[in-house]
Amino acid sequence: MTDTDRPDSAGAPTSPAAPPAAEGVPVPKRVRVHHLRQAKERGEALTMLTAYDAVTARIFDEAGIDILLVGDSIGDNMLGHPTTIPVTVDEMIPAVRAVARVSRRALVVADLPFGSYEASPQQCLATAVRMLKEAGAHAVKFEGGAHLAEHVRLLTRSGIPVVGHLGFTPQAENLLGGKRVQARDNDAAEQLVADALALADAGAVAVVLEMVPAPVAERVTEVLAVPTIGIGAGPGCDGQVLVWTDMAGMTGWSPRFAQRFGEVGAELYRATRAYARAVRERAFPAPEHTYER
Ligand code: KIV
Repeated sequence: MTDTDRPDSAGAPTSPAAPPAAEGVPVPKRVRVHHLRQAKERGEALTMLTAYDAVTARIFDEAGIDILLVGDSIGDNMLGHPTTIPVTVDEMIPAVRAVARVSRRALVVADLPFGSYEASPQQCLATAVRMLKEAGAHAVKFEGGAHLAEHVRLLTRSGIPVVGHLGFTPQAENLLGGKRVQARDNDAAEQLVADALALADAGAVAVVLEMVPAPVAERVTEVLAVPTIGIGAGPGCDGQVLVWTDMAGMTGWSPRFAQRFGEVGAELYRATRAYARAVRERAFPAPEHTYER
């Protein structure tokens, strides 16, 4: 979406009920699934970021991020797991709830964790219903291609928008042999295009493409009527998504495909050291932080 669609990120938080409008450009109060397709048709880049709690979700929402993904990357980013694989639905629900409670403009997408949807369309529907009913998500995302088309179809028929996820699918990292770029040869690229078409045909409202060569992502973007959202898939996708801790520089490492747009981790460390020093030196709390009666 155009930058002028967004609440003013420099000033005080603005109300999404009245975001500044670019002339002639309709501004959604709440980003909804039809806005995703409209953005693609207009050539406006969609912004997506992960969020796992209310504090960061509020900032991202006010900064004008279009889609907040409560990713199962909560596992390796927030919960101390080595991968996304151990994440449970019961761990996801409070995170989705927190993000959904505070986001006023963004479309909130909940990831379905490993083991909570693959067995059948019915299992998938039951988990997705929890994400909408108990947690307030607006849509769900799950990993996999054409073999999950029936899952997408059932959810769509049941009124639940689905975002697909192709390319490197972290829940399958044991099968894929680690975090590796996917669809590098022609056959795999053709399969990826076929998977994306099958998901879109079944009703998917967008497809995330993770770690695929840029020309392959461009091809998928061309053939799909719904937006592609890339992560390590080059600039040719309709939108981009990053894990927020990578985007903000929260740790010493970030993947090659992620730009560090800030050094928030270093700043948090600096603030924490300053706080600890002030307490040890008895400089905090000062009189202005103290109640005398
Ligand atoms: O869980 C997640 O953060 C994701 C993104 C990498 C797209 O699925």
